[in-house]
Amino acid sequence: MELIEHGWTGPDLEPLRRILEERYRPRDYREAQELIVGACQEAQRLYGWVPPSAAQLIADHLGVTANRVYGLLTFYADFQTEPPGRHFLWLCHGAACHVAGAGKIVEYLQRERGIVGRGTLPDRSVTIHVFNGCLGVCDLAPAAQLDHHEYLAHLTQERFEHLLHDLQNDGAAGGADGAVD
Ligand code: FES
Repeated sequence: MELIEHGWTGPDLEPLRRILEERYRPRDYREAQELIVGACQEAQRLYGWVPPSAAQLIADHLGVTANRVYGLLTFYADFQTEPPGRHFLWLCHGAACHVAGAGKIVEYLQRERGIVGRGTLPDRSVTIHVFNGCLGVCDLAPAAQLDHHEYLAHLTQERFEHLLHDLQNDGAAGGADGAVD
């Protein structure tokens, strides 16, 4: 994922504007409606989330309302409408991971961190997504994936707490025993 740095003035919209002009040229209103999701995916790929200014640009470019764009952004769970944390963590809550104890970590997240399903820690260090599917590494259960490439194996609540602590302090994921690439 290419993440464009953005400061207080907001993201640089030029790359998105170029993509929209090159690839998103609807012939009519119906086609414009069909292009909204793809355009939002382009924005998320560029920025790591869909900032309000990008959503507005998409709406203006396609000739649809911003409400329509936000309706789709909130309908599809994959879209992020708030800036992500510095790290991204998938916590697997599939069947094998649940049986192996992931439920305790999910409960810890709700109870101690106020995160249900998905959320970002208040210091914006980590965005956590509880994944109710399967990460494909059931032999590592309970497992998590960090920053889209590193797998964390055989997690317990204690290891998970240590992991979050390390990430909040910009430490390496090695704080959780059993990290595998
Ligand atoms: S259920 Fe968690 S990795 Fe398969």
